[in-house]
Amino acid sequence: MTTSPPDGDGEPPVTLADAYALVTPEDSRALYARWADTYESDFVEGTGYLIPDRVAEEFADVAGRLDGTVLDVGCGTGLVAFALVRDTAGEGVDWVIDGADISPQMLAVAADKQRPDGRPLYRRLIEVDLTTDLRERTDLLEAGYAAVVSAGTFTHGHLGPESLAALVPLGRPGAIFAIGINFEHFEARGFAQCLAELLESGRIRNLDPRIVEMYRPGSAHDGDQAVVAIFRRA
Ligand SMILES: C[S@@+](CC[C@H](N)C(=O)[O-])C[C@H]1O[C@@H](n2cnc3c(N)ncnc32)[C@H](O)[C@@H]1O
Repeated sequence: MTTSPPDGDGEPPVTLADAYALVTPEDSRALYARWADTYESDFVEGTGYLIPDRVAEEFADVAGRLDGTVLDVGCGTGLVAFALVRDTAGEGVDWVIDGADISPQMLAVAADKQRPDGRPLYRRLIEVDLTTDLRERTDLLEAGYAAVVSAGTFTHGHLGPESLAALVPLGRPGAIFAIGINFEHFEARGFAQCLAELLESGRIRNLDPRIVEMYRPGSAHDGDQAVVAIFRRA
């Protein structure tokens, strides 16, 4: 099991099992407050965690020269946006990206990230609990996002299918979604059914679920997979 080094204040190290065992949004706030400083140096590097890169890659594959703003939900320290900007450099797209997350400590790390030319990676960083009623978040609903992306947030102990359905109105009509969902959860926790219902009810179209590896070969978690659900708001 992957662990972070002991916290300076003597707290036990964070493990991936801790993250998968979260139950409530308060649990998430508390765990990511402790994990923010070592999340990348320990967890991402130590496990060869690739899903932010995979989501960015699958999104870029369908987005082309997107006109409008991308919302990165559960953005954490900013790895999806970082990969998107890095991997499409030279293609002439100047991505405008907002990030949303429940953890102010993770958002603070994301706020320090820059583009190659020194501009901030994110236009705006938004603290939000995505399990709450997003119909009250007029700031998000009125932003008219051209795309919504996410990695590592629809997984064990984190967000469920009801939070996926609640994201749909955050995209403008025709908006592209690229949402990473833990493969073990995809059928078992009702994500596949949720997407089928959204499709059937005409709220989304062009559903294209793509299976990707979550970790680098040789990682202790090698073989863990995710579905990147690509679709458009109808
Ligand atoms: C595993 S991290 C993934 C972060 C980043 N997308 C990545 O791939 O590195 C999961 C993120 O989900 C956020 N999160 C957990 N519960 C949430 C909630 N209810 N609302 C918003 N964000 C939440 C956490 O704060 C954390 O930053």
